Amino acid sequence: MELSDREYLERLFEAFYEVGALPGGGVTRLGYTALEDEMHRRFGALAEALGGTVETDLAGNSYAFLAPAEEYVLIGSHLDSVIQGGRYDGVAGVMAGLLQLRRAKEAGLKLPIKVAAFRCEESSNFGCCTMGSGLVTGQLKEGPEKLSKLTGKDGSLLGDVFASRGLSLTPPRITGVKSYLELHIEQGKVLEETGTRVGVVSTIAGPRRWKLQLKGLAEHSGATPMSMRQDALCAACEIVLAVEKIGQREAARCESVATVGVIQNVPNALNVVPGAAELGIDLRGSRMDSLDRMEQDTLKAAREICDRRRIGLTESKLSELDPVSMDPGIQEGLMAAAERLGISCRNMPSGAGHDAMAFAPLFPTGMVFIPCKKGISHNPLESATLESILDGADVLWEYLRGMD
Ligand code: GLV
Ligand code: MN
Ligand code: MN
Repeated sequence: MELSDREYLERLFEAFYEVGALPGGGVTRLGYTALEDEMHRRFGALAEALGGTVETDLAGNSYAFLAPAEEYVLIGSHLDSVIQGGRYDGVAGVMAGLLQLRRAKEAGLKLPIKVAAFRCEESSNFGCCTMGSGLVTGQLKEGPEKLSKLTGKDGSLLGDVFASRGLSLTPPRITGVKSYLELHIEQGKVLEETGTRVGVVSTIAGPRRWKLQLKGLAEHSGATPMSMRQDALCAACEIVLAVEKIGQREAARCESVATVGVIQNVPNALNVVPGAAELGIDLRGSRMDSLDRMEQDTLKAAREICDRRRIGLTESKLSELDPVSMDPGIQEGLMAAAERLGISCRNMPSGAGHDAMAFAPLFPTGMVFIPCKKGISHNPLESATLESILDGADVLWEYLRGMD
């Protein structure tokens, strides 16, 4: 018997479920690793089961479509996850895309659709986000030289990873995209707390990411007097708190945020004064002036703290993307589609980054958000209902049908 849409979504969710599963719950499926490959293999099998054709590009992204077309609407998201992440971030959007393909097969659409599963949207592995989508749209600010030297969590260089997979850091640009659509979990609690079933995204905040390496002196923790230390971890901790203050100030002014999500301490031993430390800093905002201020003030604070503590400081910018706006016509179209369906909807900004950021500067682009439980994301507790994914998919479908 034919599966209902909800049952079909359940089947998709289960097909991806075990890949990268962690004993304590959640998943780790880092970009450009074997686990992400397995997600793409399963995506291909699911698309082929619908009678679709699957292609990949030289950035490793996968695409599924029913018939080749010069121009198409691209519906995408990603299949990688953060370290100890959830099963909905990215995957919900790919599931919604496959559901549109299934519907298009049954009902037909004049304007063809393609479903994209992008690689390495998360910065968790190489410190750079939206890699697959950014490479094929030419939207990564970092050139191939810099990208090839990015180091993954296992110490491998991105250039070597690409070479071993036959991929290219300068792949041909994607062509034929008439417009780009993406469904994603909100990753915040506005929809849930306001009891709204879908969100239509207005703007996406831009991230700037820095790595700071601190060099102190590893010495005996018993024999080195407090006044004679060059403790790299203490300097790092001061920087963490300075970044928090900068984020708080900019949050009050323009809803920006600042996070130190990575800290490494060397040698990380009980009886040794920390000799080196490394910080990973993520600054985000929808306003360029705020991003500039946060960046300048973070570096100024780090330099002052390290000078005062006689700590060596090496600063490297890992990656950056500018804030982007979604296409006004698509925003209106998606909201009108939700209204026709009687699905409550609100227009809202996105603090999180998405593959849509890579498409928005080039093609009319729109995003639909669905609620996730308590707003929790990038966490094994991340959860969303199939009903919510179906709500978002219904809005996309209603909008697509209206384009015909
Ligand atoms: C992607 O999930 C991000 O870091 O915003
Ligand atoms: Mn994410
Ligand atoms: Mn995501």
